[in-house]
Amino acid sequence: MGNRLVGYGSYLPRRVMTNHDFAKILDTSDEWIVQRTGIRERHYAADNETVADMAVIAATRALENAKLTIDDIDLIIVATTTPELDFPSVAVQVMGRLNATHDIPAFDVRGACTGYIYALHCARAFFTAGIHERIMIIGAEKLSRFIDWSDRSTAVLFGDGAGAMIFQRSTSSYSGIIDTVVMSDGKCFGMLHGTPDHHIAMNGPETYKKAVTCMPEAARYIMEHAGITADNVDWIIPHQANLRIIQSGAQRLGFPLEKILVTVDKHANTSGASGVLALAYGFDNGLIKPGQLILYPAFGSGLTWGATLIRV
Ligand SMILES: CC(C)(COP(=O)(O)OP(=O)(O)OC[C@H]1O[C@@H](n2cnc3c(N)ncnc32)[C@H](O)[C@@H]1OP(=O)(O)O)[C@@H](O)C(=O)NCCC(=O)NCCS
Repeated sequence: MGNRLVGYGSYLPRRVMTNHDFAKILDTSDEWIVQRTGIRERHYAADNETVADMAVIAATRALENAKLTIDDIDLIIVATTTPELDFPSVAVQVMGRLNATHDIPAFDVRGACTGYIYALHCARAFFTAGIHERIMIIGAEKLSRFIDWSDRSTAVLFGDGAGAMIFQRSTSSYSGIIDTVVMSDGKCFGMLHGTPDHHIAMNGPETYKKAVTCMPEAARYIMEHAGITADNVDWIIPHQANLRIIQSGAQRLGFPLEKILVTVDKHANTSGASGVLALAYGFDNGLIKPGQLILYPAFGSGLTWGATLIRV
């Protein structure tokens, strides 16, 4: 039992903060940030704008794009690590606010920056088991809530936003989410984690080293499993955390620069929303075309990492 992508949507909050804006409040510069990370600007949600608010907008746009209503969806999975409420899930808030008239399952997954890969992994399993007809995956984050504005080594790295994808059951096994792999190593907990006072604690160089090995490892597993090489893949969309990590990992796998889709310059690291936002950006800007094959590796706090292969 297969699936196919039938719609996507995204939302970026209006407020944009550039590296130059950061240079006014921290001992940093546009040059340093661009050189070390590739980030030029990021979007921040308004103070009263929640993760669920952003998720609802992205979901609404995905439904419009797919020409469906919420009642056509029979499962909602939201990847988020920054919900304002411990309960209920963002997914049930989305279901309720879109006024679904029948009861459907809805839940969140917390896989940090690998969250959207974990959500896609769940969706693939449900389709394979023949359980659901149409599944909406949402990645939504408000990382700005966790920013320590006095810490230049983490403050500049993150952004807010939400993206959504809708997949529908199909008889083709070579469309939609084709394959997934997800991993974790909790022994690396200390490398990157949230603190009880809502800040980000990170050992940047150690996280960097782990990222440039984990993402290619997961991507290689997926390519070997599918019997393909970089030549067969149209785009690689690595988790958008740092341009140097993205390029070194993708090139190690044999991808030329023109096959690497990059949004980290505009969005910064939006964690669980990153890959979903990047897909929407690729479609909206005519880069990604229907029928193309996309390899998605990701890594994040946990550590968690994984990859998926999608034909759009
Ligand atoms: C965070 C990161 C950009 C830092 O780059 P780096 O080359 O490793 O830099 P270091 O942490 O070794 O710091 C080098 C110097 O730059 C300084 N620095 C850190 N952030 C800075 C900033 N925004 N502007 C200017 N200088 C900065 C440090 O204070 C340090 O100064 P010092 O030598 O006087 O102590 C890099 O480690 C990285 O991207 N790691 C991965 C992070 C990531 O992707 N996290 C999310 C995972 S999902």
